[in-house]
Amino acid sequence: MKTPSSSHSSSPATSQAIALETRDSDAGRLMSPSAARNRTPIAGMLAGILPENAQVLEIGSGTGEHAVAACLQRPDICWQPSDPDARSRSSQAAWASEADGRISAPLALDLRDPDWFAAAGAADALVCINVIHISPWIVTEHLAAGAAALLEAGGPVYLYGPYREGEATAPSNLEFDRSLKSRNPDWGVRALSDVVAVFDQAGFDLESRAGMPANNLSLVFRKREAS
Ligand SMILES: C[S@@+](CC[C@H](N)C(=O)[O-])C[C@H]1O[C@@H](n2cnc3c(N)ncnc32)[C@H](O)[C@@H]1O
Repeated sequence: MKTPSSSHSSSPATSQAIALETRDSDAGRLMSPSAARNRTPIAGMLAGILPENAQVLEIGSGTGEHAVAACLQRPDICWQPSDPDARSRSSQAAWASEADGRISAPLALDLRDPDWFAAAGAADALVCINVIHISPWIVTEHLAAGAAALLEAGGPVYLYGPYREGEATAPSNLEFDRSLKSRNPDWGVRALSDVVAVFDQAGFDLESRAGMPANNLSLVFRKREAS
C-alpha cells in the first residue's frame, strides 16, 4: 500500500504560498484538509445552482477535489479546472480520472492578468472557492470583468469563502484577516459590500447569500440582461 507523502504548500513552484495548510499527496493527487471538510456542502450548493449540462469554469481549483465532488453530484455537467500553480494543475489532472472524462486538462489561468479570460474557452458558469482572500484585490476585479466577458445573461458566478460584514463579522474572520495580511499585505478577508459593488459594476446582481460552516459564505451572482 502506498503511503501518502506530506507537503506544506508554503514551498510551491511560485514564490508565494498558495494555500495555508499541509496537504498529503498520493500519486500526484494532493489532498486538501479544508476541501475534505467543505467539498460536500459546496457540491450540494452547486448542484442547485449550475445550469443543466453546464460547462463550468473554475478559477484557482487547487487540488482539484471540488471539481470531482461537483461532477459526481451532477452527471450532466463538464468542468474546466485552472490554477496558476503548476503543482496544483498536476493534482487537478490526476484527480480528473474520477469523473468519466468530464474534467478537462487544467488551464494556467492567473487572474492578475486583465485578459485572462481570452484563454479560458466557453463557460456557462464560473466557480471560485477560497481564492479572493489569498490573492490581491485586482484578482477580484478581474474575476468580475472576465465573468462578464465570458457568461451569457443569466449565467451564475459562485463564490465561496470568508467575508467581512461590518459589525456582524465573525471574530474568527477578523483574526484570519490579520493573519493573511501579516503574510502578504495584498491579501485579506474581503468586505462583502466591496465584492458586491465590483460585481454590480460588471453587470451582476447578488442573487443569494448563504451561511456555510466555519463562518464562510456561499454567494451566487447572476449576470443581468444588457440594458
Ligand atoms: C486556498 S487555495 C484554494 C484552492 C481550492 N479552490 C480549494 O478551495 O480547495 C487558493 C488557490 O488560489 C489560487 N490563486 C492564487 N492567486 C491566483 C490568481 N492570481 N489567479 C488565479 N488563482 C489564484 C492558488 O494557486 C490556490 O490554488
